[in-house]
Parts: sequence; C-alpha cells; structure tokens
Amino acid sequence: MHDSLLRDVAFWRFLLNIDREFAKNAREDGCSCGGHLHAGNYFRNPRGGPDGLPKECCLRLSLCCDREGCRKRLTPPSVRFLGAKVYLLPVIFLAAAMRQGPSPRAMHELSALFSADPTVGALLTAAGPEPVERQIGHLTATIARSILDGVLPAQDAAADALVPQRGDPSLRLLRRVGTIDPTSLADYRASNGYAALARALEMGGEAVIREVDESGLVGRGGAAFPTGRKWRAVRSQAAEPHYLVCNADESEPGTFKDRMLLTHDPFAIVEAMTIAGIATGCEKGFLYVRAEYPLANERMQHAIDSARTAGLLGPDVLGSGTAFDIEIRRGGGAYICGEETAIFNSIEGYRGEPRNKPPFPAQAGLFGKPTVVNNVETLANIPAIVLEGGAAFARGGNGQSTGTRLFCLSGAVRNPGVYEIPFGTTLRGLISLAGGVPDDRPLQAVLLGGAAGTFVRGDELDLVLSHEAVREAGTTLGSGVVLAFDDRADLRDVVLRIAAFFRDESCGQCVPCRVGTVRQEEALHRISSGRTIGTVLDELALLDEVGASMKDGSICGLGQTAYSAIESAVRRLHLYGPSSGARA
Ligand SMILES: Cc1cc2nc3c(=O)[nH]c(=O)nc-3n(C[C@H](O)[C@H](O)[C@H](O)COP(=O)(O)O)c2cc1C
Ligand code: SF4
Repeated sequence: MHDSLLRDVAFWRFLLNIDREFAKNAREDGCSCGGHLHAGNYFRNPRGGPDGLPKECCLRLSLCCDREGCRKRLTPPSVRFLGAKVYLLPVIFLAAAMRQGPSPRAMHELSALFSADPTVGALLTAAGPEPVERQIGHLTATIARSILDGVLPAQDAAADALVPQRGDPSLRLLRRVGTIDPTSLADYRASNGYAALARALEMGGEAVIREVDESGLVGRGGAAFPTGRKWRAVRSQAAEPHYLVCNADESEPGTFKDRMLLTHDPFAIVEAMTIAGIATGCEKGFLYVRAEYPLANERMQHAIDSARTAGLLGPDVLGSGTAFDIEIRRGGGAYICGEETAIFNSIEGYRGEPRNKPPFPAQAGLFGKPTVVNNVETLANIPAIVLEGGAAFARGGNGQSTGTRLFCLSGAVRNPGVYEIPFGTTLRGLISLAGGVPDDRPLQAVLLGGAAGTFVRGDELDLVLSHEAVREAGTTLGSGVVLAFDDRADLRDVVLRIAAFFRDESCGQCVPCRVGTVRQEEALHRISSGRTIGTVLDELALLDEVGASMKDGSICGLGQTAYSAIESAVRRLHLYGPSSGARA
C-alpha cells in the first residue's frame, strides 16, 4: 500500500499544493483568522461551519507534538515508513475529502490508515467571529468525516483518564481532580479553596516568604531553583512595578502535568498566583498558557473572571486594600517559548527568544521590571504551605527534596498518565503504580526529564526519585517526564528524533546551538546509515566535542541540554556499541 501511494505522483503533487490552496481560500473567504498560515493548515468548509458558525468559517488543523514521546513513533514497523510524513495524514485526509479527493483509491487507503492506527493528535480551530478550538486525541477517519459534516468532537473527553489516581484521598496536588466541578467557585471554596489566600493576607508578604523558604520548595519547571529565594529577590527590588509570570507553557516533550492542574483545578492556580503576587509585591500577573491547550485556556479564563467578580482578584482583593489581577497570554507555540526570558519577549510582542542573563528576571524581567517566574506545579504547592506551614511541608518527601512531585508517565506503561508521589519513591515503584510494562516485556530504557533529560537503563529502576539521588546518579527529574521504552522500541530512531527536535526548536540566536544541533543530527544520521566519516568512534568523539561547545557556549538551557539525552544514550545505554560506553 505504501509503495502504491508513493508512486501516485499526481497525488503527492496535490498534497504539496494543499497549504497554499487552502490558505488562499481562507483569505478569499475573509475569515477572522485572515488566512494567515500559522503552524497548521486552513480548510474552507463548503458545508458551513460547525456549531452554527457561518459558512465562510474555515478549519485549521494543527498537528500535535510530533515529538519523540509520541506513541506514533513507537508503533510497529509498518508505520515507521511514514516517519516525517505521518502527521500530515489528517491534513491529507481532510483536504482530500473536501476536494473530493485526488483519487478514490488514495482516499480508501488513507481511510484504512486511520482505522489501523488512530493515534494522531490534532488541534482543530474553527475560525469565525468566536473561534472554537478542540484538541483531538485519537483522530480517526470517522471523527474527521464528522468534522467535515459540521460536528465538533466533545471537548477533551479523555482528559480525566490521564489521572489514574484521581479520588485517592492521600493526594495533595491532584486531590481535587475529578472530585469537584472545575468551573464552580462554590465547589472550590467548599473544598477549602481560598482559605490560604485569607491566611496569607493576615500573615503579610514577608511571613509568607519565610514559610516558603522553610518549606524547602524548589521549582518544578525543570531547574529546581529554591522558590523562597526567588520570591525574596523580587520582593526586595526597589524598582516598580513588579510582575508575576506563571509559566504554563508546558513545552517539554512528554510533559502534561500542568495541563491536568489547569484544566481540573483552575481556581487553585488563580489562588496560588494571587498569594505569590501579594508576597512578591506584584499587582499584575500573567498566565502564559500553552496555546494548544484550549480547554485549559477556557477553564482558566473562566476561573479568573469568576474570581474577579467575587472580589478575589482586582483592586481590593478580599477587601484587604491590596490589588492583584491576572491576564492570560497564549503561548507562542515553540519549545523555546517556555524558557523564562523568552516568555518576556513573547508577552511584550517580540519573537520568543531568550535574553542574555544577567540581568536576571528578579532584577530586570518583563518590561524591564523585577519579575518572578514560576511553574504551574510549583505554585500549586503554595496554598498548602501557607495553611500547614513551611516546616510541616518540609517533613514530607525525602531529604532536601520536600513535598510531593507530579510525574508524567508515557510510552511502555500499562496506564499512562500523571501520578503524584512523595519524593523518595523509586523509579520501579512509580512504574509499577502505572501498571508496569504491557505484556510484561523487559524495559529497555527510561527517558527521565524529557528531551532535555537523560536516558537510564532498564536495570537502573532502583533509582530513588529525589533531586539529590538523581543528581548523584548523573541524571535529572527535569519537568517530571518518565517515558518508558520496552525491548521493542528502536532507540536509535528515538535518539534521531530527539536530535531533530532540538535542530527544529533552536531559536538560532547563538552559534553553538544553531550550528551544533544541526551537526549533532548529521553525525547521528551518518552513524545510523553506516556512512560514517572515519569510524563510529570518530563520530562519537565529534558528537562529544559539539555537545561540549553547546553546553559551554549556549545562551540558554535549550542549547545547554541539547546533547544530554544523546550523551546518555551513548555512555549509559551503550547504544552505539560497548566501545562507546567504554569511553565514559
Ligand atoms: C527550552 C526551555 C523550555 C522551558 N519550558 C518550560 C515550560 O514549558 N514550563 C516551565 O515551567 N518551565 C520551563 N522552562 C524553565 C523556565 O525557564 C523556568 O526555569 C521555570 O519556569 C521557573 O519556574 P520554577 O522555578 O517554578 O520551576 C524551560 C526552560 C528552557 C531552557
Ligand atoms: S541556546 Fe539555542 S535556543 Fe537558546 S538562545 Fe541560543 S540558539 Fe536560541
């Protein structure tokens, strides 16, 4: 079937023209998106818009992730041929269907592909006076057809399934997920919501920061920086105003924990941001949310509006005379937009590129003013710290790693999803919590911390999940990614995908990262295809040299970690032969 598709030259020519054609159609139809071809593709819908939108509306289908964690990359070899093209399939299908298809045979085959492996993810935007967005997890031919008939799939129906522990009374961060109505302020208050804000207002900002210091809380966005220290640095700045940014971009591949909190406990994030704003002397907070999370955006906007109406945000929070308000900004759609200084640029309306440090955000951040940036999960810990006290919080966890941590399990586990565990649990314990490996296959490796993280071997599952223990073991928890690969996964292919990801996502501002990510990918391709320059060891030496330049010479964390996973594949997994490992 694949060969016949490839031979259909007319068909492929047709595909190449799709973007241009449909962008043009969208422009001519005067849709509200202006026919601006962004990350996705626009389709004029000749049958009228979904949900009663006017006929001239268009559909945009952006294809999800295409990142190394995607299950698509881990499915059987029959699909691997599709490689880079695989995420074009829904586009092809929809476009073909709307144009009555290039040929009935091609349509039939594409349809069959969908039925065989419906794991393509997509973000659908129906443009119009009020654009409607849907995230579609498992796009199938049936769903694609019904979209064309004007029926949008239900919003995020599968999201609850991503928290298998929901309802467990021992949960802290996830305790409200699935147990309260996330759109109801009354439900939130009934579950002890807003008690912490009232307490924080009584205590005053300085006392709140003392508790956060004492709690030992460190950032959950990847860098594990002490939160109390960051807050104090901003509070002590004389320059005004101060800003708060909640980093909800969640751009690290394999991470989806923040999405669960934003979608299922949105008032907790609003309350936590308000406490953080009051403690650090900010009157304005920005919530920088990943644009590909339409339901999270909607729920957060609803929570902010409801809180404002109830006097929990605005010029006089809870009658205290203190002002704090929140504005949502949608993420720019690039990995780099999650980096804290790139967020500043993005919010200010510039290209989302990192800034040089110093000056650090605490001194000169957003609009050149003192700014505190915190991850969603970091902030979600704040109400509990205020209510139970920093010392009590610090008693939970393991050593210096206090509290609980959210981990995103995906790949070769029976029950993928977000899990909350106390620090100190082993990797084996966490994987068992997720049901273990399907079919009891042996585990080949686990990617910890996402693309910016490192691989550990299947025989290293006794690793303790705490900041100290993973540092000692030469790995990282990063943003909480635990991506498991059983013995069937082609790890060389995964490593190539990681290299391609960094090459794509480098913003290109500094030379070591811009050139290094390309050279790194080229060397890996040469090794994989057996066309090395010199020996494999020569290529590995080159990779090491390029990796060291990126680590030492890059402006931001992207370039500094672009070699981490690859280096661990070489040295820890011995992926390119035992001799490569012997070099370590
Ligand atoms: C390339 C890159 C992408 C990042 N993406 C995110 C992200 O999506 N979410 C996040 O919270 N932190 C992200 N970070 C880390 C942030 O720069 C920053 O350290 C974090 O938001 C600080 O919050 P925390 O102290 O609460 O962890 C990223 C860093 C880099 C280098
Ligand atoms: S390290 Fe890479 S992503 Fe970061 S600023 Fe430099 S080029 Fe851009």
